[in-house]
Order: sequence, then structure tokens, then C-alpha cells
Amino acid sequence: MKNLFRRKLPVPDEGGNSLKKCLGAFDLTLLGIGAIIGTGIFVLTGIAAATQAGPAVVLSFVIAGTACAFAALSYAELAASIGGCGSAYGYSYAAFGELLAWIIGWDLVLEYGVAVAAVANGWSGYFNNALTAIGLGLPDMLIKGPFAGGLVNLPAVAIVLVLMGMLIVGVKESARINAIMVFVKLLTISVFIAVALFNIHPANWQPFMPFGWFDHTADGKTIGVLAGASLVFFAYVGFDAVSTAVEETHNPQKDVPTGILASLVFCTVIYIVVSGLLTGVVSYTELNVSSPVAHALHLLGVNWASALVATGVITGLTTVMLVLYYGLTRIIFAMSRDGLLPPFFATVNEKTHTPVRTTVMCGVIMAIMAGFIPLGALAELVNIGTLAAFVLVCGGVIVLRRLHPEMPRPFKMKGGIILPVLGVLSCGALIAFLPLVTHLRFLLWLAVGIVIYFSYSVRHSKLNAA
Ligand code: ALA
Repeated sequence: MKNLFRRKLPVPDEGGNSLKKCLGAFDLTLLGIGAIIGTGIFVLTGIAAATQAGPAVVLSFVIAGTACAFAALSYAELAASIGGCGSAYGYSYAAFGELLAWIIGWDLVLEYGVAVAAVANGWSGYFNNALTAIGLGLPDMLIKGPFAGGLVNLPAVAIVLVLMGMLIVGVKESARINAIMVFVKLLTISVFIAVALFNIHPANWQPFMPFGWFDHTADGKTIGVLAGASLVFFAYVGFDAVSTAVEETHNPQKDVPTGILASLVFCTVIYIVVSGLLTGVVSYTELNVSSPVAHALHLLGVNWASALVATGVITGLTTVMLVLYYGLTRIIFAMSRDGLLPPFFATVNEKTHTPVRTTVMCGVIMAIMAGFIPLGALAELVNIGTLAAFVLVCGGVIVLRRLHPEMPRPFKMKGGIILPVLGVLSCGALIAFLPLVTHLRFLLWLAVGIVIYFSYSVRHSKLNAA
């Protein structure tokens, strides 16, 4: 009988496949900001304010950000002490054993894969708007998939393939392009903040909490500040991807905790400022639109706003996809290196030092998904998948403090296990505030994963073979 709960501390270079060390703390912070700031702030803030939280959306951001802070501290501790490019998958392997590690790895594949394909859909809409503005807009057939009355969402396919090319060429090169795009999106946000600061009407902040803390509408939707927190949580997804760069970082024990925490703190401040200003310059009732930041600037009469925000969104969403795509390939690489997925995925190209096969395979599958399947409704799956990973990472800190108190911890959270316990509780609560249909879809995905585990992984696991 195989032991499904045997635990394993990852050894980064096992199997002779190693990635090239080329990133520092600053690169990682920019990768984090690249992955974090995107649809969440440019799109979901308005929807959450208009339909779930009102001006108190700022509290939704504080609550979601606090839950993420507990998780980020746990990621920092485990990334520095356990390492490995598998992130939550690798930490779960060490803390809970193989079966749970597989489940969380499978969950991360869903999180990152769906996120990239779904964000590519949103990106395509903004990109086509920009093309239309210069008279080069694509016909409907080429911006909608077959289920939405078109042929293929061509820009969505194209952007995934471009990112695939970048990630094949090299991580350092990708990080450089990411840095430029992060700069552009931060510039957009700074301009919004500067314009909004001079146009605040405090009356817009009244009533502050029109939907209360938590409730259900007659048609079963969840509303209130807490439901808003579960939705805007999406805005924070991505800082965890920094931890997949451990094996490509010069000094991971110091740089990875710095990258994770610095990017999260920076983005949380930006989110609180932007959501506070957005609901201060226009009434929250006006914000249920696909581009609330541009819409608010438009209502203020700042006419160049639309083009400016479109640039911010296009670059913002590109970096989100880039970093999440990167994270996806590293997690699959780690799972394959452990034998839980076929060895095909664990080879590193000699020239580029990147896992080219995994990158190409993920790119092709995500391009097909982005081009042909309508993914909007699946985006909430990303939240539940991420939150489940956060619960296990916080839980992993608690278990490993007990089982391996002697393990070196270059970064160690203060206060014993209080913060990780708060992380488990707060991320668990955010899962509970998500809609029922999201829970059911998530369980379905995990059921598929368990079938794959018992039909392939358990028989090929290197740990079990040993
Ligand atoms: N945090 C990323 C975004 O908001 C996923 O787009």
C-alpha cells in the first residue's frame, strides 16, 4: 500500500534539472506588482462598489488585504525555509504529504491557467477598443469565440502566444519587459490619483455602507462589504506567484520574502487610495461599468482619460498574465520533477534554461481556451482556488512549526502561530462568502484531479518509489 501522506522537503536541484538564477529582490517586487495590479482594480472595484459594498468597498479592500497579509507572511516563511519552485504545492508536500500536495498543485494549475485565459479575454476587449480608436478595429467574428456568436477571439489567442514566446526566451528578459509595463500602469494610476484628488465630493461617500456587511438578495446573490471582499480578493491574486521564482533567485532566503511582502504592501496601499478616491469623485451607483476608472475620469470631463486608462489596463493585464503564466509553468515543472506528472514536463532547455516544453504546452492550451471558450463566469474559480492554497500554506506553517521546530527559518513570523491561524480563519471565511456555484465547480475540478492522481501520479511518484 502506498503511503499517500508521506511528507517531503523539496531539494531544488534534484533530477539534474535546474533553472537559471538571475532574479533579485527588486525584480521579484516588480513581478509581484506585475501579477497583482490588473482587472481587480481597473474593473472589479466599480462592480463591487455599485452592487455589493458602496463606498465601503474600501473596507472590502482592507479586509481582503488583511487576509492576504497573513497568507503572504506564511508564504514568505515557507519560501525562505523550504524553497522549491512549486510554491504552495511544495510546502504542502512538506507539511501534509503527497495527496494533499497533489490536490493543491492541481488547484494551482486551475487558478493560474484559468486566470491567464480569463484575463486574456478581458485584455482582448480593451485592445480592440484601442484598435478601434485608431480606425483599425477587428470585426466581431475575430473578437468573439464560437459560443459568443463569433469565430475566434483572435487578440486573446495572440497575446497568450506572445507571452509564450517571451517566457521561452528567458526569465530575465521577461522580467525586464515586465518592469517597463509595471512602470506604465503605475503611471496611469498616478495620473488618476492626481486628477481625482482635486475632484472629491465628500457627499458621494454617503451612505457609506448601503448594502451592510453581508446579506443575500432575493435572486440568491451575495451582497455587503464581506461579499465585496470575496470579490475584490481577485485584485490581490498573484503575489503568491513570486514564490514560484525561488529557484531562479540569487538569494532566495532574503529576496523572496522581501519581494512577496513589498509587492503586497505597495498594492494594498494603492488599492485603498484608488477605491477611496473612485467612490469620492462619482457616486458608487454610477460605477457598474466595464471600465470604472476611465468612466469616472470621463464623468469628470477629463477627455484624454479613456486613452490613458486603456494604456494602463492593456499593460496591466499583460503583466498579470505574464507572471501567472510563469508561475503555472514552474508549478507543473515541480510536479513533474516529483513524478506526479509525466517527466516530459520537467526538462529544461539547454540554451534558454527555461522549461520550454511546459511553456509551449501551457501556452497552446491556454490560447485555445482564451480563443474559443467564454471564461468570464469562471474567473471566480480563481478566487476559490487561490484562497484554498492560502489556507493550506498558513496551515503548513502551523504544522511545520510543530513537526520540525528545528528547521532553519531565515524569515520567521513573530507571535508563534497566531498570524497563520488568523490566515486560515480569514481566508476560510472569504471562501464561505463566495457563491455556491463556485464551490460546486471547484469540487468538480478537485474530483477530476483525484481521479488523475489515483490513475497516474500515485504509481509514478518518485517519493513513493523511493
Ligand atoms: N490580481 C490580478 C488582477 O487583478 C489577477 O487582475
